[in-house]
Amino acid sequence: MTTVRAILEQVEQAVNASDADFTATFQFVCEPEGTYRLVVVDGQCDLRVGAGEAVSTVVADADDAVLIFSGKADSMKAFMEGRMRIEGDLMAMSVLTQFTAGGTRSTGGPPAHPRVGYLAPAESPSHEWWREQALEASEGRPLRQVAADRGLHVGAAIATPSLPSADALVPREFNQVGAENAFKWGTLAKRVGEYDFSVADAFVRYAQRHDLRLRGHTLIWGRAGRPTDLEATIRAASDPTATLRQLMGEHIDTVLNRYRGQVAAWDVVNEPMAYGGEGLDRNVFSDHLGDDYVAEAFAMARSVDTEVDLVLNEQIPANQYNDVGGEQFHRFAEKLIGQGVPIDGIGIQGHQLMSVPDPVELRDYLRRIEDLGVFIEITEMDMRIGLFADRDDPLGAQAEAYHRCAEVLASVPAVRAVMFWGAADTDTWLDHFPPFDAAAPNQPLLFDRNLEPKPAYYAFLHGLATTP
Ligand code: G3I
Repeated sequence: MTTVRAILEQVEQAVNASDADFTATFQFVCEPEGTYRLVVVDGQCDLRVGAGEAVSTVVADADDAVLIFSGKADSMKAFMEGRMRIEGDLMAMSVLTQFTAGGTRSTGGPPAHPRVGYLAPAESPSHEWWREQALEASEGRPLRQVAADRGLHVGAAIATPSLPSADALVPREFNQVGAENAFKWGTLAKRVGEYDFSVADAFVRYAQRHDLRLRGHTLIWGRAGRPTDLEATIRAASDPTATLRQLMGEHIDTVLNRYRGQVAAWDVVNEPMAYGGEGLDRNVFSDHLGDDYVAEAFAMARSVDTEVDLVLNEQIPANQYNDVGGEQFHRFAEKLIGQGVPIDGIGIQGHQLMSVPDPVELRDYLRRIEDLGVFIEITEMDMRIGLFADRDDPLGAQAEAYHRCAEVLASVPAVRAVMFWGAADTDTWLDHFPPFDAAAPNQPLLFDRNLEPKPAYYAFLHGLATTP
């Protein structure tokens, strides 16, 4: 993966080799009515807004969202050494950086004080810097408190309530919990109709004991998590379609009634879309009931429980939000909501497996979902450390990426919950799941294998605490 820093280094090499002038364009995507200053602290550099005159300090209104600076190697060096800085309401903006020599890469919002920040410094902030900044911004409050104060739930999905991380860590830092597998149909009933609620019930008791909001994941999932004999049962039935509809209805009825008032929100259907943007996933439900199985599942759920929040949950790979996959899911959700299907919220999973989310794209996508008139939950967040393998300080780079996510999530009013897929790096599914198991330890979460906070924790906390 090409990083911003790698591009900068390429540009600097090219500039040094030819001793030629270069032009770099910084495109600031700002909140309306913000005022931003780009300042050359040291070194030679011409700054312009659009095609305007060169000045040493640029003050830009949000309308002037494109700043251009140009110069020779010395100014690039100044930039790389962090001697140029931007002042402004930085938490409300993201930064795209474009060079004549390279493509476009996001640097995201600078990881700093709400009022003053450094644009793409050559070095990531130190781990200690993140800790100090976060403790100051949060006034020592844990993540759950900072999140609650801004009306957010922040959670962890764990395998069982008997994990070490469930003991002290989850109740201290999170105000929501989920089960990685315990509420899936195939976990509740290994064979059709043969229910064993023991682990799911343990989650209910655990959530109540620690005052945690409990999410239910998931009622219907075509790709996995079904009773082992579901397909065979359907195949053997004289009317497979009617039998599947009946089994689906009985399952939804059984589970929603059992956990009425105890589970706050259900992923009614998980991952309806095909990988790679090929319309809906083909699975036992869509094969027999057609694409309407999604709408049917929501209608069944609503008829059983009129109070619980019903969520449509999907995984959209980072940086495909405005691509085919993101587009198709948006269109699908829009269609269902337009038809009156009782969808209260959209879940965006947030597994960052192959690339780091571009904050501008992520925010724009969340806003488009918000415009559908539903709430949003980030339901399964994690970020493999391998995505930062080419950085000098992967944990620091991961922290910066989490910081940018926190800023985005905190700035979209419809986002009301963020859940991580695991509490600590000891818990992650990635270490046991091909092909990611080969890269273990994947370290994708906010707490390390000793259950201690990572730079990512402090960065995420800081982002939540400081975003206006
Ligand atoms: O329960 C059996 C156990 O009896 C057996 O000894 C063991 C041997 O491997 O396997 C156990 O089942 C595994 C189960 O996790 C519990 O550990 C399954 O093989 C394994 O496929 C299952 O993986 C889960 C996966 O969903 C499929 O259901 C992961 O833990 C879980 O993290 C993952 O979560 C999904 C979300 O539901 C949807 N979004 C993507 C996310 C990550 O893949």
